[in-house]
Amino acid sequence: MTRLIIVSNRVAPISEGGPAAGGLAVGVYDALRETGGMWFGWSGDIVDDHAPPPTMTVEPHGPVTFATIGLSRRDYEQYYRGFSNATLWPTLHYRSDLTEFDREEYEGYKRVNGWLAEQLLPLLRPDDVIWAHDYHLIPFAAALRAAGVRNRIGFFLHTPFPAAQVLATIPPHADLMRALCSYDLVGLQTAPDLRAFVDYIQHEAGGTAQADGSIAAYGRTLRAQAFPIGIHPDEVAALAEYGSDSDVLRTLHRTLVDTRLIVSVDRLDYSKGLVERFKAFDVLLARFPEERQRVSFLQIAPPTRADVDAYQNIRDALESEAGRINGRYGEMHWTPIRYIHRQYERPVLASVFRAAHVGYVTPLRDGMNLVAKEYVAAQDPADPGVLVLSRFAGAAQQMNGALIVNPLDVEGMAEALAQALHMPLAERQARYEDMMAMLRRDNVSAWRDAFLQALNPA
Ligand code: ADP
Ligand code: F6P
Repeated sequence: MTRLIIVSNRVAPISEGGPAAGGLAVGVYDALRETGGMWFGWSGDIVDDHAPPPTMTVEPHGPVTFATIGLSRRDYEQYYRGFSNATLWPTLHYRSDLTEFDREEYEGYKRVNGWLAEQLLPLLRPDDVIWAHDYHLIPFAAALRAAGVRNRIGFFLHTPFPAAQVLATIPPHADLMRALCSYDLVGLQTAPDLRAFVDYIQHEAGGTAQADGSIAAYGRTLRAQAFPIGIHPDEVAALAEYGSDSDVLRTLHRTLVDTRLIVSVDRLDYSKGLVERFKAFDVLLARFPEERQRVSFLQIAPPTRADVDAYQNIRDALESEAGRINGRYGEMHWTPIRYIHRQYERPVLASVFRAAHVGYVTPLRDGMNLVAKEYVAAQDPADPGVLVLSRFAGAAQQMNGALIVNPLDVEGMAEALAQALHMPLAERQARYEDMMAMLRRDNVSAWRDAFLQALNPA
């Protein structure tokens, strides 16, 4: 039987009670624990440049073997903080204004991909199927191929794939795309992402694409296809029920007498549209004064990548917005915005979703956004809340039952919030049922199976 090898920069350690905040860790963890296999990537440790080089730890946890390794300080700076998160991430999210480029960091990015491939080599068996995830690992297959690996190797991009002209702002874009085409299968989240990928292949790379997903470019043939990542909706629903019987939730409910809750949960990332979202909440309170003291907005936002300047800036901007809005509308007994940086365990998070009348998910750009899916799955079918969702989240391609908004239209978002807060039960139920049917059909197992079937047809 073939063994599945997952490769990703961030690895979710099961021993710490479940995955870290981030769609990749949550989605891959849910997919892999059913099939078993190996998960290879960064341990999260940073090793001093003068210390002995990092060594690999291989640890089985039930059906999954975790093979993780630290990064030297220089590798972390160049590959992770630098090229991955200060060049690729903003470009993939259409933020060319925030994109930095440094040739040495790009060299470091390629070097670390080559080094990671070398580390994996001794663990590989000839019939393993290798599945690499996300933008940190674009050159990974090319490095394995150069070392003689002939296994099937697939790649899934969890972020958006930007328009060709946006991608072309990265100086080595052609080099990156050539490397990406060393994979046998490239998976994107949505049809618009796939269209953007094909457009680049045809118009920048001089390649060809067929309707069946086959691509010819840079002297290779491969496949490209959209595979929208999902969740396990019934499991999230069960977690939400279980977590509702906890002290955190009882305390939350005590603070919500006669108050409706709007909830948002995101890594503290500029792609998530948090400032615009806060401004729209301000407009809601200004334009609909009857909502004051009757609605409370809870934003949970664990900080990430704090050593990239743009992340510090977004954090400062949010603190000032939250302070401004709370100062303007707050009362002794009512705080309009509760702004929290903590990570929570999955049952607690799911039960907070269930307690909220509105799930407020408004990224400026997002590959998929699992929070949108988790929010819906966590609802009580007898009295479900309403999802307000950005049209620029990949999830908007599938979630027709949401109120779809443009995150730059703060007036429109405020109106959608007001509509959501007062939506009649029958309409809420119809929208919920519609989205649950999709979530059950296109769940995370279906995502995994469709990708692996396309990568390694039976
Ligand atoms: P991204 O991959 O950009 O972080 P997603 O919405 O796709 O965005 O995935 C985020 C995942 O991380 C979700 O599964 C969500 O439940 C989880 N998560 C986000 N914030 C927290 C938090 N504060 N505590 C625990 N899990 C979190
Ligand atoms: O796709 C979302 C993603 O970028 C993952 O690749 C990543 O693991 C997650 O967000 C969290 O970010 P980080 O690993 O940089 O903490």
